[in-house]
Amino acid sequence: MIAPSTNRTITYTTDASQQQDYAALVEKHGSPLLVYSADILKRQYQSLNNALPDVDIYYAVKAHPNAAIINTIDELGGGFDIASAGEMDLLLEQKISGRRTIHTHPIKKDQEIRDALRFGATTFVVDNIDELKKLIPYKSRVGILLRLSFRSKNAKIDLSKKFGCDLLEAEEITLEAEKLGLHIKGFSFHVGSQCESPSKHVEAIEACHQLMLKLNNILKQPLSTLDIGGGFPADYSLSGFDIDAFCQPINDALQKLPRDWHLLAEPGRYLVAPSVTSITTISGKSLRHGIRWYYLDDGVYGSYSGQIFDHTNYPLQIPRTGETYPSIIAGPTCDSIDIVAEDIALPELQIGDLIIGLQMGAYTAATKTRFNSLPDAKFISI
Ligand SMILES: Cc1ncc(COP(=O)(O)O)c(C=O)c1O
Repeated sequence: MIAPSTNRTITYTTDASQQQDYAALVEKHGSPLLVYSADILKRQYQSLNNALPDVDIYYAVKAHPNAAIINTIDELGGGFDIASAGEMDLLLEQKISGRRTIHTHPIKKDQEIRDALRFGATTFVVDNIDELKKLIPYKSRVGILLRLSFRSKNAKIDLSKKFGCDLLEAEEITLEAEKLGLHIKGFSFHVGSQCESPSKHVEAIEACHQLMLKLNNILKQPLSTLDIGGGFPADYSLSGFDIDAFCQPINDALQKLPRDWHLLAEPGRYLVAPSVTSITTISGKSLRHGIRWYYLDDGVYGSYSGQIFDHTNYPLQIPRTGETYPSIIAGPTCDSIDIVAEDIALPELQIGDLIIGLQMGAYTAATKTRFNSLPDAKFISI
């Protein structure tokens, strides 16, 4: 089953009522904007929850660390995957209990461990012996997930290159943990973000299942938690991605695990990507060497930063139709790298036209910079 690709999708619309809606938002709040819909996030959460009925969802805060998004997940009863003191502070400000979090960064400073424990987090992730040993002083208060690595070519972002141990190391670390009196609750993995297919999830679940059963024959305290990470894709090609079909093989693999094991996932992208739309305004244009350049008030140093860091081309909605010309859409900074889309053919656009970026909720504002001291796109909820 193939999930949507991330090649750029451009749609052209002259839908007057939609354009009036966007224009009204800009009139009221200014430009550029990131427009958040809690209803869309709720729909995504429910559909993932339905597709993985036995799995507890912990929203990966890194995908979009934002109070309104945190509050929606809170309302839905979801948990939170945190990886830094800053993410913890954001949850604290929203009065989210640390009990509802898992701390998933495999490498932590001692101060971070202490702060997370004070916050109420009890689940921590490690992937090596040195990191395991950092938890010895707190052993009565922590349950540990051991992160395994499953490299994947079918993921846009490989998240098993930098973190995770192999199956042999997992065995050694688990046995060492028992000797040290530390409680490893189970395993976790992340097979990479924006997966094209669920095949790596299935392979990882099966491998963890076998190793956990094997180790449970030896361990005094059995392993009984499996965290299947994230990787559920966003529909950047707007082709109508089917999350049920994507999750079916994952569910089939999970069905084979003992019924009393605790299953969790740390999705980010699938949940938040479609819930945020970018509105930018063309602030200037020029014809250079036969190519029409359009300069937006937001770009790759701002909301479109995911084009650099996350290797994602967001679908664009253009407000005009008609004869097309070779064109480039650029961001507002002085840097030549700040290009949102090139090698494209567009109808003649005008200063003041609004360019809409869709599926812009994940790894967009999260990686924005302040280059050229330009202001951030204003985040508004509708
Ligand atoms: C540890 C961890 N968990 C969860 C996620 C979220 O993954 P995704 O957005 O692919 O669902 C990430 C993404 O970087 C991650 O590093």
